[in-house]
Formats: sequence, C-alpha cells, structure tokens
Amino acid sequence: MHPMLNIAVRAARAAGNVIVRAFEQQDKIEVTSKGLNDFVTNVDKAAEEAIIEIISKAYPKHSIVSEECGVIDGEDKDFQWVIDPLDGTTNFVKGIPHFAVSIALKVKGKIDQAVVFDPIRGELFTASRGKGAQLNGFRIRVKNSKELTGAIVATGFPFKQKFHLDNYMEMFKTIFVKSADMRRAGSAALDLAYVAAGRVDGYFEFGLKPWDTAAGELLVVEAGGLVTDVNGGLNHSQSGNIVAASPKVLKEMVADIRPHLTDAMKK
Ligand code: IPD
Ligand code: CA
Ligand code: CA
Ligand code: CA
Repeated sequence: MHPMLNIAVRAARAAGNVIVRAFEQQDKIEVTSKGLNDFVTNVDKAAEEAIIEIISKAYPKHSIVSEECGVIDGEDKDFQWVIDPLDGTTNFVKGIPHFAVSIALKVKGKIDQAVVFDPIRGELFTASRGKGAQLNGFRIRVKNSKELTGAIVATGFPFKQKFHLDNYMEMFKTIFVKSADMRRAGSAALDLAYVAAGRVDGYFEFGLKPWDTAAGELLVVEAGGLVTDVNGGLNHSQSGNIVAASPKVLKEMVADIRPHLTDAMKK
C-alpha cells in the first residue's frame, strides 16, 4: 500500500472509532445547525481532530481542507488532503447506521489517494491513482451495465437548497421510470463507493462539496467508471453537481438530466 494511503487509512479508522463509540450513546450527541437542514455535531469535530492529528503528524507540511475546520494552508501546497470526517451526519444524528469517513489526497490538483470507510460495517474502500480500487483489500469494479433498464440508481435530494426542486423532480422521474429502482441512502461518499463496488449502477446529486466527492470520485474512476458534471463535462468538483456510473449508463443519465437543467444547474 502507498505510504500516504496507509496514513489515510489509519486516520479513517481512528475517526471511525470515535464515531462508532459516540453512535452507541445517542443521548450524548450535541447537535447544532449550520443552516437549513444542515446539522453538525461534536462528533463530526472530534472525528476531524483525530484525522488531522494523524495526518499532520505524518506530513506536517501538507495542506488540508476539511468540512468543519476549513482550509489549513501548509508549507507544501502541492499536497492537499480533502477530508469529510463524517459524511452522513443526518443519518448519524437520527440513529441510522449509514455514514462514512472520507479522506482524499490531491497531488498537484489531482486526486491521488482515496479512502472511504464505513465504520459500522467495517467496510474500507481504497484507491490509489492508476492502481485500481479495493474493498477490504479485494479488487472492486463498476458494474458494466449498458442501460438504465434494470439499473439501481442512487441520488441525494436537494434538501439544503430547494430552489430547483421541480427541475430535480423531473430528472428524477425520467430516470426512475426507466430504472429498476432508486436509492437515497444519505452519504454521498458511500453512494460513490457503492458505484465503484458495482452495488448501484449509477448516482447523481447536486450541490455537493469537494470533501463529499473527492475520495469517492477516485474510487469510481479506478473501478472503471466515469465521473462527470450533470451536463457531461468535467466541472463537477467546482460545481458540486455530479454523475457517476459505467460509461454507457452515464451517457444515458446525462441525456435524461440535461433537458431539465436550468442555466444555474448546467455545470
Ligand atoms: C451530506 C451527505 C448527503 C448529501 C449532502 C451532504 P454531510 O454530507 O453526503 O448524502 O446529500 O448533500 O452534505 O453534511 O453529512 O457530511
Ligand atoms: Ca455537513
Ligand atoms: Ca459530506
Ligand atoms: Ca460531513
């Protein structure tokens, strides 16, 4: 394993321990709100601290961007860790055991190492650029589905900004009617990991942040899938509007989404 991936795995497991211990004592979780339907807890922050402690001890000069603490500029700007200490906070707060730790390392702007860890199931998804993707050490691959017929498609609802709800619902409807069924599981990082593992055939969501998708994107690409923005371009890490699937399913999804995009969504 690449030494930097090894550090990422150690950090993800440390955060996972913090999260699982806290999950077992729901009444002690302190929830505050960052905005409409946007929760954060003391556990998000404790998990983040555990991750940053391990990474910054191993690589004190590297830069960090993490959901709760923002940007930490290191001496070395070529190495940037992109961290979501707890992806799926709403599930966590409600006692639904589906959430993850997501850690990616970007080297000169390119995602190079990735870990998505589901601490409840003990599922560790990893990828190194050019080396494939693994689940608990075993190679995973995107399902080579040819069309939406028979497919399971994951998505996230636009629960924070409901401005384009009608447009979202139209694309949802088009894809839902053609597919076998859809899932809204509540963790973008795991949605992408599940595409990589061939558990779902495709995934799309709007309004995500770099820490939601950085690790999951490398998992999908290294597992043989494609990741684009909702218009089929490559602006997804800036816009946060993302589609991931096998090449053929992605093409079909983008064609189904495109007619319903407002100008503001077209990225
Ligand atoms: C959220 C989850 C969710 C997605 C949201 C994200 P968080 O991340 O990934 O599935 O729909 O848009 O913000 O806030 O729980 O880390
Ligand atoms: Ca959050
Ligand atoms: Ca997240
Ligand atoms: Ca988070």
